Amino acid sequence: MQMSYSLYFLFLLIIPTHCLLPPDDSSCHNHCFHQPSESCPPVTSPCKCQRLSNCNNAAVCCNVNAFTLTEGLACANISSTTDIKALHIRNATFESFNLTVHQQVWRVLLYMTITNGNITRIDGKLPKSTKISCLDLSSNHINSIEERALGQLYNLSFLNLSHNNLTQVPSIRMENVTVDISNNTNLACSNLKVKLGNSKLTFTNENETFCITSKDFAWFQTTATLPFSQLKRVHELQKNCVLNCTCSMYRLNLSQVKLASFEVAVNCSNKKFSALPVPLPPNTIFLDVSSNNITSIKELKSESSYENLRYFYADNNQISSLKPLEGTKFINNFDTLSLQRNKIKLLDTYVLDNIQFERNFNQRRVRLGFNNLHCDCSTKKLKVWLLSKLSHIPDHDDIRCENMNAKVTELDPSKLCQSPQDWTDYIYYIITAEVLLLVGLIVKVSYDYWVFKTAGYLPWPASKMPRLPCDWLCE
Ligand SMILES: *[C@@H]1O[C@H](CO)[C@@H](O)[C@H](O)[C@H]1NC(C)=O
Ligand SMILES: *[C@@H]1O[C@H](CO)[C@@H](O)[C@H](O)[C@H]1NC(C)=O
Ligand SMILES: *[C@@H]1O[C@H](CO)[C@@H](O)[C@H](O)[C@H]1NC(C)=O
Ligand SMILES: *[C@@H]1O[C@H](CO)[C@@H](O)[C@H](O)[C@H]1NC(C)=O
Ligand SMILES: *[C@@H]1O[C@H](CO)[C@@H](O)[C@H](O)[C@H]1NC(C)=O
Ligand SMILES: *[C@@H]1O[C@H](CO)[C@@H](O)[C@H](O)[C@H]1NC(C)=O
Ligand SMILES: *[C@@H]1O[C@H](CO)[C@@H](O)[C@H](O)[C@H]1NC(C)=O
Ligand SMILES: *[C@@H]1O[C@H](CO)[C@@H](O)[C@H](O)[C@H]1NC(C)=O
Ligand SMILES: *[C@@H]1O[C@H](CO)[C@@H](O)[C@H](O)[C@H]1NC(C)=O
Ligand SMILES: *[C@@H]1O[C@H](CO)[C@@H](O)[C@H](O)[C@H]1NC(C)=O
Ligand SMILES: *[C@@H]1O[C@H](CO)[C@@H](O)[C@H](O)[C@H]1NC(C)=O
Ligand SMILES: *[C@@H]1O[C@H](CO)[C@@H](O)[C@H](O)[C@H]1NC(C)=O
Repeated sequence: MQMSYSLYFLFLLIIPTHCLLPPDDSSCHNHCFHQPSESCPPVTSPCKCQRLSNCNNAAVCCNVNAFTLTEGLACANISSTTDIKALHIRNATFESFNLTVHQQVWRVLLYMTITNGNITRIDGKLPKSTKISCLDLSSNHINSIEERALGQLYNLSFLNLSHNNLTQVPSIRMENVTVDISNNTNLACSNLKVKLGNSKLTFTNENETFCITSKDFAWFQTTATLPFSQLKRVHELQKNCVLNCTCSMYRLNLSQVKLASFEVAVNCSNKKFSALPVPLPPNTIFLDVSSNNITSIKELKSESSYENLRYFYADNNQISSLKPLEGTKFINNFDTLSLQRNKIKLLDTYVLDNIQFERNFNQRRVRLGFNNLHCDCSTKKLKVWLLSKLSHIPDHDDIRCENMNAKVTELDPSKLCQSPQDWTDYIYYIITAEVLLLVGLIVKVSYDYWVFKTAGYLPWPASKMPRLPCDWLCE
């Protein structure tokens, strides 16, 4: 009986490990190598590392610190000359995990996994000839990874950095690497965006990936948590940009209750455009088309993609009129309108009069300097307008009359309005005409009198006129 029982137990012990689950690499590491805590050496074991019996060339180290890790690697015979290809280090407690230490061991690994630990920093770097294809550093409370630590992993295809406290994604120079940076609640959006621009990286677990905006990111004043999907939209902006222009995020609009939405800046300066670009990407609020050959701004009125525009810079173009601005959404909502160095001859004050500068619009700026203004008496309205809005028109001193070389703000209306076109001149013509008429009349009457006295008859038309009572007086 006793022997059969012990045989039975022996059977139970041997069958599952050595027969039912024969060593099989693919069951241990698919693309990465990850062992549960049950694979750890028993707590009583003097060696913190052990080779796995159910996986070829694989080992697990648990509950180690800098000292016990060195010991454990030695007692489990894990070195640069052994056949270990996959290693999982669980619950490592390190102030600094220095990758340079033991780098000869890491160099031969294909799968390196360090999880569920308490590691403040990753220092040093993995050597050049490292073959690691999956590096998993998740769940370690890591605050920082030395910038060049992972720079030389030429066979890397998967990197898991999730569930840490990283602010930066470390540099990875290899192509086709999939990175999981989810659940790092202090990740900086500015850094993530740069890394997103590196098309060699693919991010996974996107729905759990968030980053923090800060002052260094798009002039954003307060910190806010941003979903990865939103950041990706910013990155893809350029793809959907106007041909030959540069699209970027102008700022994040948190006023919307739902998801933060992005406002877009489009830069098309210096592109030899002869017309405003259409259509603009959705939510464009900033457009710079300076130094082109644009002649008209009619698109501000006619194009629906211009309706969110708030900042419009079109300096150094061939624009001749402000009239298309009349009645546009832009003129109601704008923040900056800059039309310096254009071909504007006449500033229509009825367009300008509709611009509000009070209350919500006290940051509004209008720049109209260095145009070819043609000044006449009506320009005095413009002068009044300018003088009342000086703080909103920073270049008021550069708004000059082309035909009289003077600042509009310094024009003397009494001089301006003496020009021949002025209505007061007609009065002089009328007075002159009346004086001439009067002189003519006096001459004619004198002539009639002289003829009457000498020849005794009245010349026409006096002879044909009826006699009136007052004629008595003359006779
Ligand atoms: C982690 O390791 C430390 C010793 O380094 C140990 O005290 C602790 O209990 C371990 N934690 C877990 C969850 O195993
Ligand atoms: C360690 O591994 C090497 C190479 O695999 C082997 O030659 C050596 O005998 C092993 N030593 C021990 C103590 O297992
Ligand atoms: C990590 O270790 C430090 C000491 O090195 C300790 O102060 C801290 O509480 C530990 N954190 C966790 C989550 O165990
Ligand atoms: C990491 O270890 C290497 C070699 O032991 C050493 O030269 C280096 O200074 C260490 N780095 C840090 C940040 O401690
Ligand atoms: C590592 O990459 C090199 C080329 O970059 C390749 O030749 C080699 O087979 C790869 N090694 C492994 C183990 O995948
Ligand atoms: C990365 O590691 C975390 C925690 O260990 C895990 O939940 C997650 O699934 C891993 N990511 C991938 C893509 O495997
Ligand atoms: C996480 O990172 C932030 C920013 O680097 C730091 O202020 C904070 O103390 C870190 N938290 C822990 C638990 O280390
Ligand atoms: C990366 O992936 C693309 C397509 O998936 C492939 O064409 C390219 O050769 C890969 N690059 C490397 C270095 O493996
Ligand atoms: C972090 O991961 C846990 C799952 O482990 C998930 O429930 C949680 O929502 C995540 N938090 C963030 C901020 O990603
Ligand atoms: C991420 O979330 C979106 C919507 O919230 C969902 O449609 C998508 O399937 C999710 N992706 C994954 C990988 O969970
Ligand atoms: C874009 O730039 C290229 C090269 O400068 C030029 O040939 C092309 O005409 C431009 N397209 C537009 C729409 O301006
Ligand atoms: C505008 O067009 C003229 C010719 O029509 C050209 O000489 C000039 O260089 C262009 N200016 C810009 C800024 O493209």
